Amino acid sequence: MNRLYFDSAATTALDPQVLEAMMPYFQNKYGNPSSIYSYGRETRLAIENARKSVGKILNAHPAEIFFTSCGTESSNTAITGSVRDLGCKRIITSPIEHHATLHTVEYLDHRDEAKVSYVNILPDGHIDMDHLAELLAASDEKTLVTLMHANNEIGNITDIHAVGELCVQHGAIFHSDCVQTVGHFHFDLRNTPVHFISGSAHKFHGPKGAGLLYINENVHIKPYVHGGGQERNMRAGTENVYGIVGFAKALELATTHFETESNYIRGLKYYLMEQLQQHLSDVSFNGDAAGRSNYTVLNVSFPKSEKSEMLLMNLDMAGICASGGSACTSGAQQGSHVIRAFNNDPNRIPVRFSFSKFNTKEEVDVLVAKLKELV
Ligand SMILES: Cc1ncc(COP(=O)(O)O)c(C=O)c1O
Repeated sequence: MNRLYFDSAATTALDPQVLEAMMPYFQNKYGNPSSIYSYGRETRLAIENARKSVGKILNAHPAEIFFTSCGTESSNTAITGSVRDLGCKRIITSPIEHHATLHTVEYLDHRDEAKVSYVNILPDGHIDMDHLAELLAASDEKTLVTLMHANNEIGNITDIHAVGELCVQHGAIFHSDCVQTVGHFHFDLRNTPVHFISGSAHKFHGPKGAGLLYINENVHIKPYVHGGGQERNMRAGTENVYGIVGFAKALELATTHFETESNYIRGLKYYLMEQLQQHLSDVSFNGDAAGRSNYTVLNVSFPKSEKSEMLLMNLDMAGICASGGSACTSGAQQGSHVIRAFNNDPNRIPVRFSFSKFNTKEEVDVLVAKLKELV
């Protein structure tokens, strides 16, 4: 059975060109980057070249680029560092963040290290900017704002420039979880009022286990992982050399082909929207699907029925990978904290389809035909 993969917001296939760039560092170039002889210098150079390349693409200084193990680690480091080292006593976030953010802020709140406030979500899934301004104005305490760039479940995009400007006005620190957008959008960090962003290679055809943390040169936090002096004393542990090389190569490829690939993927998303509206009754889309939305993600809302409740399991049996949201156990829908935050209709079933450059229109046709049968 041919598998159809519509879950690229969960993870993507490694690009063969990325694997090719990584291969030498699995085999011949295995020196420890901290060793001072030539084997070590060779891998050190690979890491520093990767850092330069990533910095250039994101328009940041290489010294602002830190490689981590994943997006989750990056967000944990930024959020915890803001509280413990930058004096943030208050955190403003949203109820639709990824658990990498939500569980970190809950932990800090639980330990009385910071108080957490949640910004309201509008019916279209966007954050309520007026409420954010009110929350920021409500206290003089040093505040961290942590809001994601694109939501992983519904695709909604937050204007991080507008959030950053508000943070500047109120002297707040701003972290943005950009795991769904690094490698999918152009970044100009030097001209973006943000202190930290998180990214992750496996969301844009890079390897798993390779994350990015951008730390603006004007903020200084202490290490989150202690030990050796790697990553300029910010993250101890022998570097994931092939992962870092893969991160940089994947970002380089994504950037080179950005215009064609993003238009192609957006075309697939709009085609699926159109086909669903044409062939199925009573489907709608969660979030702002045709508006300020990531071109990679479409969250479809199906009417609840005995059949649609089994949809993910039946899609899986038909070899089609899609996702019900944040949690899905044995095909049974656990409910999504994201959908719940703005549209708690118990009579709808949300399913996320997410796309990559490796999907085709023919695959969308097969998907729609299957959905006609299953819903
Ligand atoms: C928005 C968002 N943030 C954070 C993460 C976590 O990234 P990683 O898998 O690299 O830890 C993900 C991935 O699932 C994500 O989609």
